[in-house]
Amino acid sequence: MARLDVTEMFHGIAYPGHLHTQESLQHALKFPFRDTDILIASYPKSGTTWIQEMLSLILNKGDPHLSLTVPNWARAPWLEHYYCASVLEGSSTTPRIVTTHLPHHLLGSALTDSKAKVIYVSRNPKDVLVSFYHFHKMANFLPESGTFPEFVNRFLAGTLHFGSWFDHFKGWTSQMTPMHSRLHMTYEEMSLDLHGAIKKVSSFIQCPLVEDEVNNCVQYCSFSQMKDNVMVNYSLVPDDIMDHNRGRFMRKGQMGDWKNMFTEEQNRYFEQVLKFKMQGCTTENCEKS
Ligand code: A3P
Repeated sequence: MARLDVTEMFHGIAYPGHLHTQESLQHALKFPFRDTDILIASYPKSGTTWIQEMLSLILNKGDPHLSLTVPNWARAPWLEHYYCASVLEGSSTTPRIVTTHLPHHLLGSALTDSKAKVIYVSRNPKDVLVSFYHFHKMANFLPESGTFPEFVNRFLAGTLHFGSWFDHFKGWTSQMTPMHSRLHMTYEEMSLDLHGAIKKVSSFIQCPLVEDEVNNCVQYCSFSQMKDNVMVNYSLVPDDIMDHNRGRFMRKGQMGDWKNMFTEEQNRYFEQVLKFKMQGCTTENCEKS
């Protein structure tokens, strides 16, 4: 299948051109947040879809009706995608859930003076890299992945689409601690204790749940349910955009898959770069990644 690979460059970062335009990216930077909005911010492959699903379920008290009938991009659209404005215009739901992969240095000023709640979700960057590498095989809107060693180098250099993981992580997490309307969640804590993660998120968005409702959320945002739910597993996306013969969006859903891909030498090099790039990052934030 021919690759779409139309790239939109914005402030030095490449974005897939089938979803991003200069206008939609500009529009995101001026997005008029409402105090009731909930923003999910993440670098791709960090658990974005998982948190989108969790929030939908929490806000619906564990009732899966919306999750099973409305695609995730219509329930929690990406601010920077061209269709975002029309999705939000047609929606009267409060709170609105919106999503972004933009770095904080670009989107942060739109959040100044807003009480919108922000949930930043991060994941061990080695697992992000591996997930992103496999995703490049099926995502026709991204450039060819190249070999795994080449991909590792591009990830570390910050030249992949969506920019540098390190800048993204540092930019958003440096904003997390002092403010009450910010929550940093990790893929790992959701994997290790999904029940606890749901309670934490529900308390953060002030949507308390009774035990049965938490259990329903756990059930419907488990990997096994989400991988078969066409509203979140991206199987509705046509093959010319995501080639479903070359992989699945809901691929493995595991922690530590990097160990199956990294050589010892790649791991050593990654650790060196990580240490260097994370200088000045507070321990608490770095330990959560
Ligand atoms: P893998 O490729 O490692 O399987 P994002 O939504 O940010 O693009 O992240 C996609 C990654 O999150 C994929 O990782 C996907 O399988 C994983 N994922 C999505 N839902 C999940 C769930 N309920 N449990 C565990 N992992 C999940």
